[in-house]
Amino acid sequence: MTMNCSFSLFLRLRSTRILMSFHFIAGLQAQTVLVNDTVSGFIGTDVVLHCSFTNPLPNVKITQVTWQKATNGSKQNVAIYNPAMGVSILSPYKERVTFRNPSFKDGTIQLSRLELEDEGVYICEFATFPTGNRESQLNLTVLAKPTNRMEGTKRPLIAKSGRTEKILVATCTSSNGKPPSTVTWDTKLKGEAEFQEIRNSNGTITVISRYRLVPSREAHRQQLMCVVNYQLDRFTDSMTLNVQYEPEVTIEGFDGNWFLNRKDVKLICKSDANPPAHTYEWKLPNGTLPGSVEIQNNTIYFKGPVSYSVAGTYICEASNAIGTRSGLVEVNVTGRKTLGVL
Ligand SMILES: *[C@@H]1O[C@H](CO)[C@@H](O)[C@H](O)[C@H]1NC(C)=O
Ligand SMILES: *[C@@H]1O[C@H](CO)[C@@H](O)[C@H](O)[C@H]1NC(C)=O
Ligand SMILES: *[C@@H]1O[C@H](CO)[C@@H](O)[C@H](O)[C@H]1NC(C)=O
Ligand SMILES: *[C@@H]1O[C@H](CO)[C@@H](O)[C@H](O)[C@H]1NC(C)=O
Ligand SMILES: *[C@@H]1O[C@H](CO)[C@@H](O)[C@H](O)[C@H]1NC(C)=O
Ligand SMILES: *[C@@H]1O[C@H](CO)[C@@H](O)[C@H](O)[C@H]1NC(C)=O
Ligand SMILES: *[C@@H]1O[C@H](CO)[C@@H](O)[C@H](O)[C@H]1NC(C)=O
Repeated sequence: MTMNCSFSLFLRLRSTRILMSFHFIAGLQAQTVLVNDTVSGFIGTDVVLHCSFTNPLPNVKITQVTWQKATNGSKQNVAIYNPAMGVSILSPYKERVTFRNPSFKDGTIQLSRLELEDEGVYICEFATFPTGNRESQLNLTVLAKPTNRMEGTKRPLIAKSGRTEKILVATCTSSNGKPPSTVTWDTKLKGEAEFQEIRNSNGTITVISRYRLVPSREAHRQQLMCVVNYQLDRFTDSMTLNVQYEPEVTIEGFDGNWFLNRKDVKLICKSDANPPAHTYEWKLPNGTLPGSVEIQNNTIYFKGPVSYSVAGTYICEASNAIGTRSGLVEVNVTGRKTLGVL
C-alpha cells in the first residue's frame, strides 16, 4: 500500500515537470522580433524601420530595445529605448533618428533625410528578462535617382563615298544612379552603341552609351532617341541627324518624245544635297551648244524648235561644300510626234 502510494506521487510530479518545460519551450518560440527584411528609400527621404516584439509572455519583462548598424563585422549602436531610462539616440544619428512610439512591444524608428552611407544591415534587439535577447536584422538600401543627358557630337557629320569608319554621333549619360539605369537607343539608323558603367566610390553608378554610325545620305534627318529606364521612370531625349553629303543629281525635262520642230523644251538639273548645291555646270554634246540654247543656273532652255542637232548626251555637274557629282541624260530626236506618249 505505502509503496504504491509513493510511486503514484512520483509519477504525478514527473508529468507536471514535463508539462512545465513544454510550456516554457513553446513560449520561447513564440517570442520573435518582427522586422521588414528589406527596406529601401531614396536619398533625402525618410524611412521607417519597423520592429515589434510578438507575443510577450506575461512574466517576461522587456529591459531594453537597441538598434544597431552592422558595419565591417562590428556593431555600432544607433538608438536605445530603455523603459526605465528613456530614449537615447547616438551620434551621428542624433538629428535624424526618432522612436515612433516606443513601448514594450514596439521599437519602430524613423530615419530621416537618408544618406548613401546609411545603407547596410540594421539589427533590432529586444533585451528581455529572464529569457535573454531576441533580435532580427534588416537590410536598408539607399537609392539614388540618376541625372540623364543626351548630347550630339559637335563635329559635322559628313558622308563621303567609300568611307566606312563609324563616327561618334551622340552620347547618352545617366549619372550617379543607384541601382544603375538601363540605357538603350530607339532609332531606324543602322549604327552601333557602346556601353560603359562607371562605379563611383559612393556606390552610385554612371552609365554611358555612345552611338556611332557611318554617315550617309540615308541617315540625314533621321531620328535618334536615347531611352533611359530607371526603376519605373523613363527618360527620353532625341535628336535629328544633320548629315552633309555631296549632290545626288537627276536631270528632268526629257520625256523621250522630242520630235522635230517641238517648241519650248528644257532640261533641268536637280540635285539632292546638304548643304544645297551652289553651282551647276552643263557639259553639252561634243562641247558645243546646239542651236539657240540659253543656260540659266540649273536649266537649259532650247529656244528654237527642236532639230536633230540637239541630240546627244547632256551632263550636269552639281557642286556643294562637300563635293561634286554629275548626272546625264541621252537626248534623241524623233522625226514625228510619237502617238500615245503625250
Ligand atoms: C513592414 O512591417 C510593418 C509592420 O510589421 C508592416 O505593417 C508593413 O506592411 C511592412 N512593410 C512591408 C513593405 O513589408
Ligand atoms: C571598414 O573597414 C575598413 C578596413 O578595416 C576601413 O578602412 C573602413 O573605413 C571601414 N568602414 C567603415 C564604414 O567603418
Ligand atoms: C542582406 O545583406 C546581406 C549582406 O549585404 C546579404 O548577405 C543578405 O542576403 C541580405 N538579406 C536580404 C534579406 O536581402
Ligand atoms: C556620388 O559620387 C559621384 C561621383 O563622385 C558624385 O558626382 C555624386 O554627386 C555622388 N552622389 C551623392 C549622392 O553623393
Ligand atoms: C530615245 O530615248 C528614249 C528615252 O531614253 C528611249 O526610250 C528610246 O528608245 C530612244 N530612241 C532611240 C531611237 O534611241
Ligand atoms: C556629236 O557627236 C555625235 C557622236 O558622238 C555625232 O554623231 C554628232 O555628229 C556630233 N555632232 C556635231 C555637231 O559634231
Ligand atoms: C539663277 O541665277 C541668278 C544669278 O546667277 C539668280 O539671281 C537667280 O536667283 C537664280 N535662279 C534660281 C531659280 O536659282
